[in-house]
Amino acid sequence: MEKKEKYALLAAQVEALASGETNRTAVLANVAAAIHHEMNFFWTGFYLVEGQQLVVGPFQGPVACYRIPRGRGVCGAAWEQGKTLVVPDVEQFPGHIACSSLSKSEIVVPLLADGVVKGVLDIDSDRLGTFDDVDAQALENICRILTKHLDF
Ligand code: SME
Repeated sequence: MEKKEKYALLAAQVEALASGETNRTAVLANVAAAIHHEMNFFWTGFYLVEGQQLVVGPFQGPVACYRIPRGRGVCGAAWEQGKTLVVPDVEQFPGHIACSSLSKSEIVVPLLADGVVKGVLDIDSDRLGTFDDVDAQALENICRILTKHLDF
């Protein structure tokens, strides 16, 4: 199945998961699991804004850093800039935070509620150049579904 088709099925699954429960942690946990296992990523999860830091939330994959300051790493930069960042080679990204040396490329999508970043969806791949515009658009759509249904 093509990546676009997989994402279309995933979006429908996320819509169902997010409309069937109101507890934010519970929904984000199942959505992280759905994305991770459907797409076979290396690390898939959420970091949520708490003051001037991002704190790790529900995720699938190896143990991750607890806290990321605003502006630091790919996640902190996506938060500061309020936009999706696609990083084909994490070693080329200044200030990248290496939670695992196996992570090679990354995409970070902000969770925007009324124009304010409430957290990010962070996905890592163990291969270079995994993410492109198709991933960015599909994952932004998933984040919109989440902020439409959940209180942040
Ligand atoms: N690499 C991220 C940190 C989070 S881990 O990848 C799970 C970054 O630079 O923001």
